[in-house]
Amino acid sequence: MGSFENKCVIVTGGAAGFGEAICRKFAGQGASVVVADLNLEGAQAVAGSLPSAIAIQVDVADEEANKAMAQAAVDAFGKIDVVCCNAGIPHRGNYMIKMEVDEFDRMWAVNVRSIFLAAKHCSPHMPPGSSIVNTASIGGKRPRPGLTPYNASKAAVNTLTRGMAVEMAPNIRVNAVCPVSAPTGFDMTALGVKDLPEDQNKAVIAGIPMGRRATPEDVANSVFFLASDDAEFLTGVCLDVDGGRSIQ
Ligand code: NAI
Repeated sequence: MGSFENKCVIVTGGAAGFGEAICRKFAGQGASVVVADLNLEGAQAVAGSLPSAIAIQVDVADEEANKAMAQAAVDAFGKIDVVCCNAGIPHRGNYMIKMEVDEFDRMWAVNVRSIFLAAKHCSPHMPPGSSIVNTASIGGKRPRPGLTPYNASKAAVNTLTRGMAVEMAPNIRVNAVCPVSAPTGFDMTALGVKDLPEDQNKAVIAGIPMGRRATPEDVANSVFFLASDDAEFLTGVCLDVDGGRSIQ
C-alpha cells in the first residue's frame, strides 16, 4: 500500500518535465492522478502509463478550464486531495523592455492567474488534510537579469502561497517549491534551444554549489514531501530546490 492510496492528485503541466515526474511520483505511492495539460496528447500518454489516472486538456489561465478540471477530478475520483499547480511558462530571455506586451500578459496569466483559479475552483472539493503545492522558482527569490517579468511572476507565486496558507488553514496546507534551472522543455521556450550550449551549461552549473542542474525527480520528491503527512505541520513554506544556488 502506498501512502497516497485512495487519494486524488491533480497535476497541471503533467504532460512533461517536472509535472510528468510529479505524476509518476504520486502514482508510485498509489495515488489516482489527474494529468492536466494544454498538450492533451502528452497528458494522455502520461496518464495511459499510470495505474489509475485520467488526462484532461486544460489551459490553466482559463477559468472555465479550471472549473472543468475540478469537476473531472471529482467525477473520476470523488474528491481532490492534492493540487500541484505546476504548469508555468517562461518568456524568451531578454531585457524586459524588449518584451512584447501580449507575451507579458500571457506569461503572467499562465503563472499567476492560474494559481488563483485552481484554488478557487478546486478548494470546495478538498477535504480537511488536503494540500496545494505550487511550482515557483528560485528566480522568484534571487532574480537574475534576462527573465525579469518571469522572476516577478514566481515571486508572486511565493507571495500567493504564503497568503493562501493563512487563509486556508487549518484545512488545506499550501506550500511551494522553488527549483533552480533544470533541463526540461523550459530551455526551449526561454532560450530557443533543446540543450543548453556547453559554455552556458558550465556557467549555470558554476553557480550551483551542488555542481549540477536540478532534475525533474529532485522537484517531484520535494513536491511529494510537502504534500505528504510527513509535512503535516508545514504550510506557507517556499522550499528551495536549488542545490544551494540562492546562498551565494
Ligand atoms: P516544461 O516545458 O518541460 O513543462 C511544462 C508543461 O506545462 C508542458 O507539458 C506544457 O504543455 C504545460 N503547459 C504550458 N502552458 C500551459 C497552460 N497554459 N495550461 C496547461 N498546461 C500548460 O517545463 P518545466 O520545466 O517542467 O516547468 C514546470 C514548472 O517549473 C513551471 O512552472 C516552470 O516555470 C517551473 N520552473 C522550471 C525551471 C526549469 O529550469 N525547468 C526552474 C524553476 C521553475
